Amino acid sequence: MTDSRLAGFYNLDLAQRQARLSAATGLDLGPIFGSNGLSAAQADAMIENAVGVFGLPLGIAANFVVNGKDVLVPMAIEEASVVAGASHMAKLVRESGGFRAEADPSHMIGQIQLVDLADPAAAERAVRGAEREILAAADAANPRLVELGGGSRGMELRRLEHPPLPPMLVVHLIYDTVDSMGANSVNTVLESVAPMIEAISGGRAHLRILSNLADRRLARASCAIPPHRLRSEKYGGEQVRDGIVEAWAFAAADPYRAATHNKGIMNGIDAVVIATGNDWRAVEAGAHAFAARSGRYAPLSRWSTDDQGQLVGELELPLALGTVGGATRSHPAAQACLALMQVGSARELAGIVAAVGLAQNLAALMALATEGIQRGHMGLHARQLAMSAGASGPQIEQIARRMVEEGVIALERAQELMQTNSGS
Ligand code: MEV
Repeated sequence: MTDSRLAGFYNLDLAQRQARLSAATGLDLGPIFGSNGLSAAQADAMIENAVGVFGLPLGIAANFVVNGKDVLVPMAIEEASVVAGASHMAKLVRESGGFRAEADPSHMIGQIQLVDLADPAAAERAVRGAEREILAAADAANPRLVELGGGSRGMELRRLEHPPLPPMLVVHLIYDTVDSMGANSVNTVLESVAPMIEAISGGRAHLRILSNLADRRLARASCAIPPHRLRSEKYGGEQVRDGIVEAWAFAAADPYRAATHNKGIMNGIDAVVIATGNDWRAVEAGAHAFAARSGRYAPLSRWSTDDQGQLVGELELPLALGTVGGATRSHPAAQACLALMQVGSARELAGIVAAVGLAQNLAALMALATEGIQRGHMGLHARQLAMSAGASGPQIEQIARRMVEEGVIALERAQELMQTNSGS
């Protein structure tokens, strides 16, 4: 288990960070260093009409402890402040015992839409009566997954209407896809059992497709932070704690705010989902559908104060992630990222990803509830300019702080300050 603290990582230059990470993990991380993640030839084998590869910065969020285990978190994202925000909050939570996280078994829902039903009630009875044969046929359609411990787990029927069209019957096949995201397995199984269900129901199987509202596959993360750890030079710990709870209440009361609140959570989640070669559109679709499950769009997280006065954060959302299959296997950088995280299963990955989402949410709320997010953004930007001007070690912070104080955050100013600094 690699110590995720990576002290001083932030102040190293890119080459030094790569060397440090390789030494700390003992892994061959070539595919995530530089821009070697995916070759054009590999891209050509993945999609149609390929012409090249689109790059994204890949950073490592430090300090994460999830269920007592240190984990290095790879994040692919173009937005500044996200990796730093996650790392800072992970440090705070680490000092308070770390994140707790868990995920449900990998139960996906596959949908078969039955239409042209002469008698929907009779069709429903017939399909219900044949549940065992249908589930057995679904298992027979993917024996490999059954051998790996997956397969069908149940069936649900729903009668739906959208007048003026006639009523339909929708079959939900619950399917355990173990360590894969599962879209391919589920879609194959659905197409294979659809003719049997048509024969049983007397209807026509129209759509046969996985649902991205994977609400049988939820991941949860939580943390508790004593207020004294939230204290800063300008703000008291209880003030920060209460400010975060108040910020959360705004999201709970208002879908306009909830959308932005959840966007902040997805900043962390998507970045890891992308880095591990998973389908972030599926995760996004599931997250927002889940956020609206009550009929009103709501925040995915909850922030409150417990009876010891600690700030408590909880996050729950569907996370259909794989550690095998699809790009998790065919993308060399995704493979290296998964190796870096040392996750043993898709469920473990989902728990960690939920913890990153919660950390990211905390970073945003803490900044918003205190000095606003622009100051932090400017500070980071100033550091980046200082590094571009050739600063290293403590110089970076000195030059960045000076530029922020002066309110002049520009490469030319960083270069001037570098010259004064090296001359002094
Ligand atoms: C920006 O990418 C994300 C935030 O807007 C999230 C939030 O407002 O909670 C800062």
